[in-house]
Amino acid sequence: MGFDIAVLYGSSRTERVGIRAARFVVGKLRERGHEATLLEPLEYELPPLDYRYYEYEEGRAPERIERVAEVLKRAEAYVFVTGEYNHGIPPMLKNMIDHFLYLYFFKPSGIVSYSTGNFGGVREAVQLRATLGEIGTVSIPTMLPVPRVDRSFDEDGKPRDERYHDRITQFLDELEWYADALKRKRAEGTPY
Ligand SMILES: Cc1cc2nc3c(=O)[nH]c(=O)nc-3n(C[C@H](O)[C@H](O)[C@H](O)COP(=O)(O)O)c2cc1C
Repeated sequence: MGFDIAVLYGSSRTERVGIRAARFVVGKLRERGHEATLLEPLEYELPPLDYRYYEYEEGRAPERIERVAEVLKRAEAYVFVTGEYNHGIPPMLKNMIDHFLYLYFFKPSGIVSYSTGNFGGVREAVQLRATLGEIGTVSIPTMLPVPRVDRSFDEDGKPRDERYHDRITQFLDELEWYADALKRKRAEGTPY
């Protein structure tokens, strides 16, 4: 069964590298029959936070905000592909999270963290998980850390290290399980 899945990536740097991991995830999701949308700052140009989305009257949010909101509303699961900036959450990713509090509620998410160093962004991933709890998405147990992201994937997101085909399997199996379970439960109603 295919799900609608949003992949959130938060670097707008000219020389950004993590986009490779994001493209890899999008490709794998599509291979598995899902509808995957890559939300990334250079394409979506989400403005810095002013009002949160729910503070706008319906239909009155700026178009660039509405466009992202539509993808997040439609999504039945999320994958956060995240770098580690000074051991913390990259600001453009945090901006995307902070705009849209209620849209993530009662849906699952997975974290793919990366860095060009040896630790694959795990220090940041733990912080991100605390934030994901606050925005109401259920963070799945398995994380996928990607060390040396610049060497692990080519520009198009094709693994140079073939082990990534196996490494992502458990991560996506879990995400699908939670997407299915929570979708069924949402169909019975949510507390709010
Ligand atoms: C502002 C900034 C802070 C960084 N801090 C860390 C860090 O704390 N730990 C780490 O392993 N790498 C760190 N790096 C290196 C990043 O892992 C590497 O630049 C990576 O490619 C950034 O992701 P991006 O290319 O998708 O923007 C930092 C890079 C930048 C630009």
